[in-house]
Formats: sequence, structure tokens, C-alpha cells
Amino acid sequence: MISTAQAEGDLYTQGAHVAHWTPAGQKPVLLTSSKSLFAAGKAIRGGVPIIWPWFGGRGGGLPGPAHGFARTMDWTVEGTELRSDGSVGIALVLAPNDATKALGFGAFHLRFRASFGKTFEMELETRNTAGEALKYEEALHTYFAIGDIGKTGVTGLEGTTFIDKTDGFKRKQHGAEPVKVAKETDQVHLNSQAACVIHDAAGGRRIVVEKSGSDSTVVWNPWTEKIKGMADMGPDEWREFICVESCNAADNAVTLAPGGTRVLRCAIRVE
Ligand code: BG6
Repeated sequence: MISTAQAEGDLYTQGAHVAHWTPAGQKPVLLTSSKSLFAAGKAIRGGVPIIWPWFGGRGGGLPGPAHGFARTMDWTVEGTELRSDGSVGIALVLAPNDATKALGFGAFHLRFRASFGKTFEMELETRNTAGEALKYEEALHTYFAIGDIGKTGVTGLEGTTFIDKTDGFKRKQHGAEPVKVAKETDQVHLNSQAACVIHDAAGGRRIVVEKSGSDSTVVWNPWTEKIKGMADMGPDEWREFICVESCNAADNAVTLAPGGTRVLRCAIRVE
């Protein structure tokens, strides 16, 4: 738990999972479900699950858990820092182990840095320690707390092509309007590098999500029916969050040369 004059936060070593960030004077910015299991081997429901090295199902008939293994493994704390600007930095690392090797991932190094302050910043660094290219997908699968999903819009995705996972993975073109959620929504916006703004009218605030090293953005909300099948979410929680995920997924999967490093960055602030 982090508690400073600037912000409060929670981070778990399982999954290097940030569960809360609340800047001083604000309501919580991240939603973690009241029903989250907090059990070994199960992803925490809410906050920021780290998705790596595949997004969604693994595909290709290969074994492995949905959204990869990083979000359920125990990461090692590398360091913590109280900076002169009042923010707190925490770095965690994940190296290959028997379980990742069994899934075919035997040579990589992941580092996750989180900075809790007036803004909340995350960096997910992937280093390819293999002698061959490493192909992976990744996401900072952020659950944003909002007042009412029906009064929320997301800007920053205008004119992008998206994969609609609720409609047979069809590719569609998004227009000039904000993304609104009025049914189950699960869409991968490709080649979308712009900052997104979550306009939370009911909550009376805007949440700005700036990013770099991220070429896709996912917007997800399970809506009324799908959530009923989720044991780790309350039946009405669909109203209270929207996931806007800074990713490299689908067409934007990363191919990293031997010895290469790539960093996915995301900075969040409330206005
Ligand atoms: C989203 C995916 O990112 O995560 C959805 O696009 C998925 O398809 C959702 O349902 C939640 O996934 P999970 O594995 O945490 O239940």
C-alpha cells in the first residue's frame, strides 16, 4: 500500500498488479471489483492486469491461460523510491521460470514500473534475451472507475479501424464521434496511438490516458448479461467502469529482435 500527501495506491506482487490509485482530493480512479478473488493463480479483477505475452485466448491451438501468464505470476520487487517531487516509484521484474518455459517462453525479461503521484504512470518494458525474434502481445488492461457507463464517452479513437469481438471479429470503421457503450463492447482499435480521454459526465471529471509505445487500444465493458457469468464481479458493476487498455494486440503484435527492448508507457491524470 502506498499512502502519501499526493495519492494512495495498492500494488500486489502477484501479477505486478496495481489495484488502486486515488490522487488526493479525488475519488478512486481505478475500479477493483468488490468480488475480486485475490487468490493465488487467479487474476485480480480490476485495477491494471498486465497482459503479456498474448492478448485474449492464445490461439493456434496452443495451451495457456487467457491474456497470458504475466498477470497471475509472482513478480519480484526490484526497487522502491520516494522521489523529491513527492511521487513513489516501484519497479518489479519477471524472468522466465518452469511454467513460462513449458509455454514456450524461455528467454525474456519484463520490468514493470509504476509511479504513484498526482499522475499515475506505468511502464512495461520487454527485453528479448533470446537469440531469435520474440513475438508478443501486451496490454495495460486498465479498469477506470466512472459514475455511469451510460453517461460516459471516450475520445481519441476517431477514424480508427477496430476489431469487433462481439460481432465475429469483424473489422469496422469508427466515425468521428466519441466511443459510447450501450451494449456489450469489446473492440480492438488498431493503429491508435493518440491519447484517450474518458468523459465521465456523471462523475464530473475527465480522465486523460496518454501513452507511447502502444499501437492499439481496447475498449471493453461486459454489460448486463456477460457480467452475470463472471464470478468475480458484482451483477451491477458494469455500470461503474470502462476498460480503456493501452495495448499492442492483433495486427499490432510486437516482433522484437534478439537483444531488443521495447517499452509500453501510459500516464493517467484526472481533470
Ligand atoms: C478484454 C478482452 O480485454 O478483457 C475481452 O477484449 C475479455 O474479450 C476481457 O472478456 C476480460 O478478460 P478476462 O480474462 O480478464 O475475463
